[in-house]
Amino acid sequence: MRENEVWETKPRFFVQFFAIVVVFVLAKRRILYKIKLGLKTMRITILHDEKEIGARVAEIFVRLLNEKPNAVLGFATGSSPLPIYAELVKACRSGRISFREATSFNLDEYLACPDKKQTYRYFMDENLFSQIDIRESFTYFPSPKHPESYDEAIEKAGGVDLQLLGIGRDGHIGFNEPGAAFDSKTHIVTLTPSTLEANARFFDDDPKKVPTKAVSMGLGTILKAKHIVLIADDPSKKEAITKLMSHQEDISSPATVLNRHSNVDVFLSESVLR
Ligand code: F6R
Repeated sequence: MRENEVWETKPRFFVQFFAIVVVFVLAKRRILYKIKLGLKTMRITILHDEKEIGARVAEIFVRLLNEKPNAVLGFATGSSPLPIYAELVKACRSGRISFREATSFNLDEYLACPDKKQTYRYFMDENLFSQIDIRESFTYFPSPKHPESYDEAIEKAGGVDLQLLGIGRDGHIGFNEPGAAFDSKTHIVTLTPSTLEANARFFDDDPKKVPTKAVSMGLGTILKAKHIVLIADDPSKKEAITKLMSHQEDISSPATVLNRHSNVDVFLSESVLR
């Protein structure tokens, strides 16, 4: 009689035990997922306009350089960073910061640029480097000869402490256009018609004059930065920003790769989401 009871309760016990294990594993996964999501959620700040963005983001650079004078900085070109660079010039002139011990790595550079004045090196010299005390030989741009050596150089310098990013209408960051591999290193890219059109404003409003190729840090390179700050101040970026904020990775919108990073700040002007 007692033996029978044991045989009857045994299968029930196993079913119950199995159910408890399943519930536990699922709950744990959910908790872990929530923790993971919580850790990876980017911080989004909406400010009035590009001037406010400039002042706020410049303060992040100021704080970093004061804490770590030999910081490694990742710079971007384009219209969006200009107010930040203007603030950094002011901060440097007033003695609040120094770039003397800093190193910089720019995101990208055009290939076969017809005019030296259209290169990103020229842009950075004009808008920042010539007005601050950074050592020119410590300002780097990717080269088409050995693109991947850029990743090695960044690593050798200790990795990027603070990477500034703009965002393209098509969601590109650096010149990583839709479809770019999320783990790519610095590589040569072909610009999309959307980017050629967007950048035509720097080339007599003629998309045909914009170089069609560039060399860019890859998405994998960008993800290695310790802190990433992405800025957008133009309504044309609304779709790309909406995709970024949906927390879904989407290969057709490269900036969404930033959902994989645990230390991202996004600064938007009110006009972007209006
Ligand atoms: C530039 C770069 C690009 C720009 C982007 C937005 O170095 O990497 O990804 O950040 O095209 O450009 P703007 O700021 O001109 O709208």
